[in-house]
Amino acid sequence: MQTQVLPVHAERPEPEIIQKAVEILRRGGLVAFPTETVYGIGANALDAEAAQSIFNAKGRPARNPLIVHVPNAEAVEQVAQSWPKDAAILAEHFWPGPMTLVLPKKSCVPATVTGGGHTVAVRVPAHPVAQALLRAVELPIAAPSANRSSRLSPTEAKHVLRDLEGMIHLLLDGGPTTRGIESTVIDLSVPSPLILRPGMISVDSIEKVLGKHVELGFKQRLVPGQPLTSPGLLEKHYSPYTPLEITETNETGRQRIEELIRKGLRVGWVPLANEEASAPSNKVIVMPLPMDPVIYAQKFYATLHTLDLLSTARIFVTLPPDTPAWMAVRDRLLRASHNSN
Ligand code: TXA
Ligand code: MG
Repeated sequence: MQTQVLPVHAERPEPEIIQKAVEILRRGGLVAFPTETVYGIGANALDAEAAQSIFNAKGRPARNPLIVHVPNAEAVEQVAQSWPKDAAILAEHFWPGPMTLVLPKKSCVPATVTGGGHTVAVRVPAHPVAQALLRAVELPIAAPSANRSSRLSPTEAKHVLRDLEGMIHLLLDGGPTTRGIESTVIDLSVPSPLILRPGMISVDSIEKVLGKHVELGFKQRLVPGQPLTSPGLLEKHYSPYTPLEITETNETGRQRIEELIRKGLRVGWVPLANEEASAPSNKVIVMPLPMDPVIYAQKFYATLHTLDLLSTARIFVTLPPDTPAWMAVRDRLLRASHNSN
């Protein structure tokens, strides 16, 4: 299969380009497109065969369910059986935007999409290209991140091609995404709301609008050796091909780097810094990220993609502080480094 790449205006997508994507999706094909978080690989969510081709292209385990994208909250009823009060409150505050809600599914949603489960994850993305596509296609679109399973998520079209060239029909290139980290996933199919994946919509802001405490369902999975409670959230995830090692501070990173340099190895380094951090040697490629969680998240995957392509022996990343604003970034880093130390 040849992958066609079409540039599209990020704010005012050209209708004729959107129309090409619509035709492919209606025929059961695969189209990668930008959302405000990361690029997604989309297919008709009501077509089991089309959804299956997403799993094949990504090499994704069949039990890991897909997020279904719709243009607005009203369209959720096409795929979900109920609309709890918490869903209405959260949708009112955070949609369109980087939030996904897990709800009881309708029978029209194929088991392929939901990983065999009885719930469906839904999201209303804010990106103008995603919005234009969803409104024009008039179908719910299943779209996981457009990367091979367990690999780095794509925030630019070239990252999508790196993993999926020849496996998708069309890629809409709308430039770099703005939020940079995948949506916050909240399970509302259980008696009290459960955060399954932290994102840039923080736990604090969710608790504030709901006026109650929400449980974190992802933390335990970061404890090595504990069994997975949710099949979809695999421990190792978001990983570059190069082994990634996290360090608590820039200083401990510098020490580890010096050990590797003494062995003659080249390494990549992502220290936390607001100014240029100096490279300890020409064997180190330094790409600092700032102490600001929003800017950090925006540049996070692109930085790791760049270092990954430079074929170093190891990438070192300084772990940001353990505060609520950094929860999503820390979650991605802990998973990306899983088993590579
Ligand atoms: O920002 C995002 O959410 C991006 C863009 C493209 O929308 N999508 C994305 O999809 O990150 P994906 O497939 O890479 O991650 C979906 C996450 C997985 O952790 C999956 O296990 C979880 O959502 N998920 C999907 N459906 C679920 C369900 N019914 N129950 C529980 N978890 C679910
Ligand atoms: Mg993903």
